Amino acid sequence: MPTQPVTPYSSDASKNHQIRDMFNRISKRYDILNTVLSLGIHRYWRKSCIREIKLHIKPKTILDVATGTGDFALACLQLHPDKITGMDISRGMLDVGINKLRQLKIPNSKIELIEDNAETTSMFNQHFDLIVVAFGVRNFENLNRGLANMHRMLKPNGVLCVLEFAYPQKNWLRHLYHFYFKRIVPLIGRICSADEKAYAYLFNSVQSFPHFDAFTDHLRETGFSKTYYKALSFGISSCYIGIKKTAPEGAVI
Ligand SMILES: C[S@@+](CC[C@H](N)C(=O)[O-])C[C@H]1O[C@@H](n2cnc3c(N)ncnc32)[C@H](O)[C@@H]1O
Repeated sequence: MPTQPVTPYSSDASKNHQIRDMFNRISKRYDILNTVLSLGIHRYWRKSCIREIKLHIKPKTILDVATGTGDFALACLQLHPDKITGMDISRGMLDVGINKLRQLKIPNSKIELIEDNAETTSMFNQHFDLIVVAFGVRNFENLNRGLANMHRMLKPNGVLCVLEFAYPQKNWLRHLYHFYFKRIVPLIGRICSADEKAYAYLFNSVQSFPHFDAFTDHLRETGFSKTYYKALSFGISSCYIGIKKTAPEGAVI
């Protein structure tokens, strides 16, 4: 029996709609809360992903799916690409990102942020050398639909890098993690963003999301090969890699 997706609000609206509304609501405080709640570790996690990507590709074209306020797109500048596109469904998050790029004097021709749904967009067929997603796939309405669409947007031999929360394997850290996510995060979220549900959703969505091998199974199911993961910070998060296979001669991908 298909399971109901974990959503932030108990409403009849689709998960995509609820997620867009939630991020629109918290967009102005997202960056600061992200840094406070993760104690700044999220920057180190993105850097670890960039190091992993460098082992596989020197990308010219990059798509940052679920770019939010553009932090992973900015981190990808270290890869010296020609162009980075950031895609998100939340106008509020994108507007914060666009302001950030303006302040940093990064031109549109280098990083462009666009409003679109990565699960359903029909743009960019076989267009990108690299697709990155940080803390985005957990929010998809339909995970395999999103992964398959990213596979479509990659060139043959293109690389997908997913950064996502996982689950610590060590017992002592798991207890601490539970306490922090279940008690402290929603409290800080309520005080700072007036949307406690958004931060309760964070815990529920992380818990129900496939981790490690279970997630690489999804990558393989949706066409990726040479998949693997690297656990970061004792498994609090994980960097996943998948490659789009070169098609045999004459085949249509
Ligand atoms: C937790 S934020 C992550 C933002 C950014 N990647 C980061 O590392 O800070 C998740 C983002 O995913 C976006 N998102 C969720 N589902 C999406 C979809 N189907 N297509 C595009 N963006 C999506 C949300 O709007 C939100 O901005």
